[in-house]
Amino acid sequence: MCGIVGYIGSKKAYPILIKGLKRLEYRGYDSAGVAMISDSGDLNVYKAKGKVDNLTDYCNDKDVSGCVGIAHTRWATHGEPSARNAHPHYSSTHNLAIIHNGIIENYADIKTQLQAKGVEFKSDTDTEVLVQLVEYIMVKKNLPLVEAVQVALHQVIGAYAIAIIDKRDPRQIIAARKQSPLVVGIGKDEFFLGSDASPIIDYTDKVVYLEDGNIAVIRLGEELKVISILGEEQELKVKTVDIDLGQIEKGGYEHFMLKEIFEQPECLMNCMRGRINVEGNHVTLSAMIDYRQQLLGAKRIVIVACGTSWHAGLIGKQLFESLCRIPCEVEYASEFRYRNPVVTKDDVVIAISQSGETADTLAAIQLAKEQGAFIFGICNAIGSSIPRATNTGTYIHVGPEIGVASTKAFTGQVTVLSMLALCLAAERKTISEDLYKQMVKELTQIPDKMVQALKTNEQIEHLAPIFTYAKNCLYLGRGYNYPLALEGALKLKEISYIHAEGYPAAEMKHGPIALIDSEMPVFVIATRDRLYEKVISNIQEVRARGGRVTALVTEGDTQIQKFADHVITLPDTLECFQPLIASIPLQLLAYHIAVCKGKDVDRPRNLAKSVTVE
Ligand code: AGP
Ligand code: GLU
Repeated sequence: MCGIVGYIGSKKAYPILIKGLKRLEYRGYDSAGVAMISDSGDLNVYKAKGKVDNLTDYCNDKDVSGCVGIAHTRWATHGEPSARNAHPHYSSTHNLAIIHNGIIENYADIKTQLQAKGVEFKSDTDTEVLVQLVEYIMVKKNLPLVEAVQVALHQVIGAYAIAIIDKRDPRQIIAARKQSPLVVGIGKDEFFLGSDASPIIDYTDKVVYLEDGNIAVIRLGEELKVISILGEEQELKVKTVDIDLGQIEKGGYEHFMLKEIFEQPECLMNCMRGRINVEGNHVTLSAMIDYRQQLLGAKRIVIVACGTSWHAGLIGKQLFESLCRIPCEVEYASEFRYRNPVVTKDDVVIAISQSGETADTLAAIQLAKEQGAFIFGICNAIGSSIPRATNTGTYIHVGPEIGVASTKAFTGQVTVLSMLALCLAAERKTISEDLYKQMVKELTQIPDKMVQALKTNEQIEHLAPIFTYAKNCLYLGRGYNYPLALEGALKLKEISYIHAEGYPAAEMKHGPIALIDSEMPVFVIATRDRLYEKVISNIQEVRARGGRVTALVTEGDTQIQKFADHVITLPDTLECFQPLIASIPLQLLAYHIAVCKGKDVDRPRNLAKSVTVE
């Protein structure tokens, strides 16, 4: 999720590491740190909460000598943002230091086992567990570092990109990756490490992109060696980096927003990681374990949020009411906080916020808390103000969202809401065991179905120019897809500046249909669900008045193309999960229309990524 930098050679490591961290700042982070083996053979670890500048300020009077080092920018997943939880993490003997991107799913079990053997921990992170495990194995089995890393990684479940140094062997860095990217730069008698090539390209254009399950054995004076987790030597695939810095920062995409649209399958896998037991088709949320009574005792759920997060809340309402039979209201936080609402101790108030800093949502939480409600947070930024103000919650774990227009956070929020609703429904027995298992299994298949939905990108890119003339657009949907119509309209208006409205498709007859003419593009979410036939009628009403319809349909649909000008086909899924799939083409549509109009997609005018003022 965040940033790794490494260096070993004849130059001083510290300036290279700091410059590398600066190059990775675009990824968003909450703390940073460096570890160097000094000229006198000490392993020095320096860390600071906040920006890299805080780290360099802290290092001003420190020993930053040494020609081998590793550095990290952290986006916290386990353990709130702090210097204590920042990386690198020492092993108990202070011989080893580790940095890590990703999530160690089974860290709690490993930590318990190591604590039982007397290992003491200094941080709340999953990462520290890994370096302590490596050291425990090195000592217990008398193994060299690389073999201890192999043994440890066999025990680890999760996603990682790691780098480890040992002060007893200053000519070596061991790195490894599984599902989190890691690049080795090959210089002249020196090596570099990076989460991407951006910290490396100033020094060399020769790189090796580590593949899943690979371990890099980097030794000064020797050729780079890459082995599998089983120890088998791998062919070295040296590539020449030929994309510029701007491209690298966006992962090769033109904008952060497009990168974040395309990384949604991986983000949702991270969101579900450690929370869905795929074999048993079972959801486990720690909040449900720790606060089972409060959550099961809810007489009503009140969701407070703003913008896209409010749209996710509308989907949550349908999930909680249809699956859990719990009455649910969704409130704009800015309205809720001032209308003197009735809130009781039997209410569970769910605050949804990507940034965790939205002022109106925070104020709504305070008001609900004063009236005795139990507060549950669904946020992305670990340790931000809203999670700290709630009784408990579930993080969405989609990594930093840089684009102002929210995309992966929306689908991450809907995924957490789905998992929470399934937990509550199972506990309240408001759905059968079979339906529960079927839904959990289908939820785990959503990332793969999103990959299919992303294949509509080229079609949508070609369609987009048709709509750039529009002054107004209409988005229609019903049921679970009605909130998505609102979200699709918000995406379009906030980055292309074209006015757009989302409406329940059946509402057209009550006024909006007066707007319909051939100049008003109408986007209809017409995926196959209980209301499909009704939506077809709504499409016909629009067409009968000269409206131009673009329809999102389920693969195999043969009816809609009779009534639609353009059809975008999507993989089928359960009705309640359709917004997770259908959001993809709507995000892409807004993106490509805005690009066609030459708008600043990542930083649209007048908008901030986090609205920390009223
Ligand atoms: C969504 O694309 C917008 N950026 C905006 O509506 C956003 O969802 C809203 O400001 C809420 O932000 P939050 O999720 O960080 O609380
Ligand atoms: N899971 C680790 C932590 O929370 C690493 C997070 C990251 O990828 O930055 O410290």
